[in-house]
Amino acid sequence: MLLDQNYKELKDLAKKFSDSEVAPLAMKIDHEASIPTELVKKLGETGFLGTFIPEEYGGAGMDYMDYSIVVEELSRNCASTGVLVSAHSSLCMWPILNFGTEEQKKKFLPRLASGEMIGCFCLSEPNAGSDAGSLTTFAEDKGDHWELNGVKNWITNGKEAGIAIVFAKTRKTDDYKGISVFIVETDSPGWNIIKIEDKLGIKGSSTAQIALDNVKIPKENLLGPIEKGFRVAMATLDGGRIGIAAQALGIAQGAFDYAKNYSNERIQFGKPISSLQGLQFMMADMSTKIAASRLLIYDASQRKNMKIPFSKQSAHAKLFASEAAMWVTTKAIQICGGNGYTKEYPVERYFRDAKITEIYEGTSEIQRVVIAANELKGK
Ligand code: CAA
Repeated sequence: MLLDQNYKELKDLAKKFSDSEVAPLAMKIDHEASIPTELVKKLGETGFLGTFIPEEYGGAGMDYMDYSIVVEELSRNCASTGVLVSAHSSLCMWPILNFGTEEQKKKFLPRLASGEMIGCFCLSEPNAGSDAGSLTTFAEDKGDHWELNGVKNWITNGKEAGIAIVFAKTRKTDDYKGISVFIVETDSPGWNIIKIEDKLGIKGSSTAQIALDNVKIPKENLLGPIEKGFRVAMATLDGGRIGIAAQALGIAQGAFDYAKNYSNERIQFGKPISSLQGLQFMMADMSTKIAASRLLIYDASQRKNMKIPFSKQSAHAKLFASEAAMWVTTKAIQICGGNGYTKEYPVERYFRDAKITEIYEGTSEIQRVVIAANELKGK
């Protein structure tokens, strides 16, 4: 797809960084289930941890298209690195930028945008996944501070995070009403990591279960209006879903590129298997799904930049790109045959990494709920 010069330059820069700094580490990140701190430091130095944060708050001063492009290019080589950047940026920094007071922005954004601290987003709980409004973590008003108690699940970046966006009820209700949001510094006493999940894919990205035991939160760390936290969660996830769509796109592109090169080198029946029409048709469909994913992601990103409604478009992008990534990575293994099924080749990693994109930040079924609800309301 044709890109404006600025986006093209950023894409070239992100591609170069990803191929030189991320690709050589991708297999090690998967095997060791950890992203080297040196790589995170380099992401901060290049500005990739603060793409859409204005320069006055220590960011790169770019926009949401730039962010999507960076997440795609990183994920093309390593989906764990892609989601570290995505969750940190769209789920932690964006709500502070959009709903925070001037003091909150000045205090937290420069530390996050530089990579001095990584961010996470604590919405889900053991019994509150797709039904996020049913969460039970409670924040009690103690006069001069809030006190948080509860358990949070599936927290991307939970191991590394210095700053967390935490959703808790400040009034006991059975539904989403009564949810408020807090900025929590994870060195606060009572912030306890109970478990790091052992997962099928994105092994380098930490997924934590966190217990909040009487965590004291300063009054000034309430983010946005009290008891309007569900709106903050939904608006944040609208943007976050574009990032996951971009991650899925990067995974699909990486698997496709590998399978295409393999098909040119693999000789069977006396010629490269890429000359077989059965494979060519497979590659044509892979290429088409990748191109369509990219268009949906760019459309949702540009709408977000223009501050026009984009809930439906971000759900379109996430639904389509994640299902395309699963399909494309399955075909990439098929093209690489027995070799593709082994851990010596990277396509099995792309296949394992793709699956989560159909689950986190709203399952494919939740994306369909969001799309249908918008359509029925005529949006
Ligand atoms: N933007 C702003 N506000 C929104 C909104 C949006 N896109 N969508 C809904 N709202 C508001 C509504 O206006 C309404 O607010 P008011 O009552 O104040 O008017 C309120 O939210 C409730 O709206 P709905 O009745 O439509 O909400 P619902 O209860 O039916 O739930 C849902 C809708 C789509 C199912 C929602 O619960 C949802 O998205 N669930 C999935 C949660 C999810 O994605 N979880 C992933 C967590 S993050 C993660 O994966 C971990 C990680 O670290 C990566």
